[in-house]
Amino acid sequence: MSELRDYEQWHRRYDDPTSDLSWRLRTVQSYLRQALDSYTGPIRILSCCSGDGRDVLEVLAQRRDAERVSAVLVEAHPVIADHARRSAAAVAAQVEVRTADAGITDTYLGAVPAELVLLVGILGNISDTHLAQTIATAPALCQPAATLLWSRARADGNRNDLVRAHFAAAGFSELHYATLDRDSWPAVGVVRYDGIPMSLPTGKSCSPFCADPWGKSSNLAADSASALGVPAGYAMPSTMVQRTCRTVLMG
Ligand SMILES: C[S@@+](CC[C@H](N)C(=O)[O-])C[C@H]1O[C@@H](n2cnc3c(N)ncnc32)[C@H](O)[C@@H]1O
Repeated sequence: MSELRDYEQWHRRYDDPTSDLSWRLRTVQSYLRQALDSYTGPIRILSCCSGDGRDVLEVLAQRRDAERVSAVLVEAHPVIADHARRSAAAVAAQVEVRTADAGITDTYLGAVPAELVLLVGILGNISDTHLAQTIATAPALCQPAATLLWSRARADGNRNDLVRAHFAAAGFSELHYATLDRDSWPAVGVVRYDGIPMSLPTGKSCSPFCADPWGKSSNLAADSASALGVPAGYAMPSTMVQRTCRTVLMG
């Protein structure tokens, strides 16, 4: 099965309102609403590995004050990114969907620092080392006092104490932490960036979001890229490669 189908399939788990993924979506959206209510004036949203963006876009579609929002959604999968673009057309906010690798710092040019940052559906798919590096990079995505939402399921091993400790070390204060104890045992955290402004280095072909730089991937990863129809020389999003492996391994 190609990853193209896998990620579209992955999104279909939202069709079941009782699924763990639907719980996560509702939880994220509830925190998004609270965060939007807590800011006055213009607000920038950044969603990394946004998928079809339904978490952000469904909330914006219901808000009268959506015009004050500008959002950048970063999604590498072209078909899923197009779904996001179609949904974005229905909201009054200014939404840009970037079909791009969230692991390349230049992807974020002009999109950071943001007041609201989503790292949802990322942290459960990378190693502890890259998890630490990713969270250490998060301040550069954030305006001081920004709200950041993250998620990580616990069924494959609960690493969330580590995640929370990394956020604290990076200058974030925890505002909320919600869990569901069934299926994938999902968890959603909300933190506020209390540190100083940080700049994101530009021109890096591979930021700490990049879990396994292209060229060092396993044969399985290369096979996955081939299955996706990724042309030779294309900088395959490494987190996507890793997720493909995971999907394959989990059957
Ligand atoms: C687990 S899904 C989460 C989607 C969304 N955040 C949500 O919660 O509904 C991960 C998404 O990240 C995308 N993705 C994987 N690696 C990526 C990368 N390096 N850059 C951008 N998007 C990536 C996948 O195509 C997929 O749509």
